[in-house]
Amino acid sequence: MPTLKSFAGVVLLMSMLWSLKFFYQQFDVPVRTLPYRGPLTVLIWDWPFHHVLNLSGDVCASLYHIQSCRLTGNRSLYSQADVVVFHHWELQEGMASLSSETKPPGQNWVWVTMESPTNTKALASWNQIFNWVMTYKQDSDIFIPYGELVPHLSASMEIPPKSGLVSWVISNYHQAQKRAKVYQELAKHLKVDVYGKASKKPLCPDCLLSTISRYKFYLAFENSVHQDYITEKLWRNALLAGTVPIVLGPPRANYEQFIPASSFIHVEDFGSMKELASFLRTMNSSCYQNFFNWRERYRVKLSTDWRERFCTICAQYSSLPQGKLYSDLESWFRT
Ligand SMILES: *[C@@H]1O[C@H](CO)[C@@H](O)[C@H](O)[C@H]1NC(C)=O
Ligand SMILES: *[C@@H]1O[C@H](CO)[C@@H](O)[C@H](O)[C@H]1NC(C)=O
Ligand SMILES: *[C@@H]1O[C@H](CO)[C@@H](O)[C@H](O)[C@H]1NC(C)=O
Repeated sequence: MPTLKSFAGVVLLMSMLWSLKFFYQQFDVPVRTLPYRGPLTVLIWDWPFHHVLNLSGDVCASLYHIQSCRLTGNRSLYSQADVVVFHHWELQEGMASLSSETKPPGQNWVWVTMESPTNTKALASWNQIFNWVMTYKQDSDIFIPYGELVPHLSASMEIPPKSGLVSWVISNYHQAQKRAKVYQELAKHLKVDVYGKASKKPLCPDCLLSTISRYKFYLAFENSVHQDYITEKLWRNALLAGTVPIVLGPPRANYEQFIPASSFIHVEDFGSMKELASFLRTMNSSCYQNFFNWRERYRVKLSTDWRERFCTICAQYSSLPQGKLYSDLESWFRT
């Protein structure tokens, strides 16, 4: 009875396979493996502020050690692009050209801005369009802070020699801004040396840091107050220059998520600008030097090159959420 035996064998084998299937299902073993894909293509729909950067060669690999990432500004590659990035400032101008595009399957669209909600207009028209967001907000899909502290091993840097007390560089001065009011109040009690376009003392780009570094303190006052909106005013003008930031922006606790509590002064640390002024004037040198303790372990890394930000998309691509869509971009951004 060889046929019956082999028939029984086949039935046994099938039932084993069947139970194996349930066994694997129970543990939720992924059965789908993604096919091998070539490098990711990231299409930059418009260069931010129309400032075109050189993309020849493998820029992500050669500049930032990010492999398999092709950046392009060539819209002819639209249908092949895995990711298309849209910088908000240009979107405001070119809305029509975008709405005519249909999105190829699997392609993700990224909304990008480094500006704060106060300076971002016409957001309501961009609902149900973007899959990911790339901003200075920590809860962005791709988080791109203006700067960060990174560990370093070399000896701490010297504090630059000081000849002045407080400086401020300001190009857009508006009476209505909170920072203008705080400055006016502080200036009643203390001399603040003001530079920049809004003052009678504009600075050449190369003179900025060397000028600020001669002062003990710098007014790192943001143009508007929003969670995580901490800009180059802190990172470059104050921390990189080697002066102590007096910050106006989100609450102290938010700053402390980025930099050590002892590295800065917050305008809200004091009940009045008079108290702040007297604290600054009477500070002894050991207290002053303590503000620089972070330099023993960290250095400032500025983020300024848009290519680096765009290459980051490839580095994070595999962990970015699939099938996400921002149905209310404005409320996400404004909270
Ligand atoms: C762009 O970068 C490539 C590779 O680094 C370089 O050879 C080329 O000269 C650059 N082009 C311009 C216009 O700067
Ligand atoms: C853009 O890509 C298309 C298609 O690959 C190509 O024919 C064209 O020369 C490219 N344009 C530029 C400016 O590189
Ligand atoms: C410097 O000021 C701090 C804080 O006011 C104080 O605790 C410290 O004793 C002072 N040090 C010297 C050497 O005067």
